[in-house]
Amino acid sequence: MLTLKNIDVSYGAIKALTHVSLQVNAGEIVALIGANGAGKSTTLRTISGLLKPANKEGTVIFKDKYIYGVPEGGRRYESIKPHKIVEMGISQVPEGRRVFPEMSVHENLLMGAHSRTEKPSNSDFERVFHHFPRLKERRKQVAGTLSGGEQQMLAMGRALMSRPELMLLDEPSMGLAPMLVEEIFHIIEDINASGTTILLVEQNAHLALEISNRAYVLETGEIVLEGPAGELAKNEAVRKAYLGE
Ligand SMILES: Nc1ncnc2c1ncn2[C@@H]1O[C@H](COP(=O)(O)OP(=O)(O)OP(=O)(O)O)[C@@H](O)[C@H]1O
Ligand SMILES: [Mg+2]
Repeated sequence: MLTLKNIDVSYGAIKALTHVSLQVNAGEIVALIGANGAGKSTTLRTISGLLKPANKEGTVIFKDKYIYGVPEGGRRYESIKPHKIVEMGISQVPEGRRVFPEMSVHENLLMGAHSRTEKPSNSDFERVFHHFPRLKERRKQVAGTLSGGEQQMLAMGRALMSRPELMLLDEPSMGLAPMLVEEIFHIIEDINASGTTILLVEQNAHLALEISNRAYVLETGEIVLEGPAGELAKNEAVRKAYLGE
């Protein structure tokens, strides 16, 4: 479904990603784990079009369409705009669960709607409320007054409004109490089970590896390990560095 090949990304003189290649197959949950500053958010922001690869050879392909790169047999370098990438079926839940604090839950969800021209349907809302019944009760509440966990749910709900085939989740468990973390991870599994493919960035490597099919380990901008999540969870280096053993 999604393929990144040899992606370099820089912030000015600072190189954040070096030759990052990864793949997400339809139906999977894939985890991307790594320490602070490893480049996890940078990777997600590149997929969603907020950052561009520094190298023209770096390609991002989603469902056979180039987000970045020169298609085979073509000449023109493709670089798709973020809102078009959303319309293609990718939506990102950014780090730090950014909701619009002055807006209601309902208005926040509207902001995530599928396209700029087509109104969201009732089924779009129902899909969100199916996974997050608490948001339905709080539809009219101003988002800034939601608890941290509820704001995370709203950020995820907003991303679901665009009917994504692939959801990019950036540290959904950050700052949440253990019980809520469990709940959020269960919801991620449910969202996946109802047909949405997931690329999950997490500091909580334990839970991330538990719910994922496969995983990649990113260290200072490079993928250093990859494999089935169960195998990585048994890997000595992973256990020491990311599972606190
Ligand atoms: N806007 C920016 N300008 C300059 N450097 C940046 C910017 N954003 C990130 N970086 C740098 O790029 C590198 C990767 O950052 P990134 O945010 O992708 O890491 P991360 O793996 O998501 O870390 P964390 O777990 O702390 O969220 C870091 O060295 C960071 O300082
Ligand atoms: Mg990050």
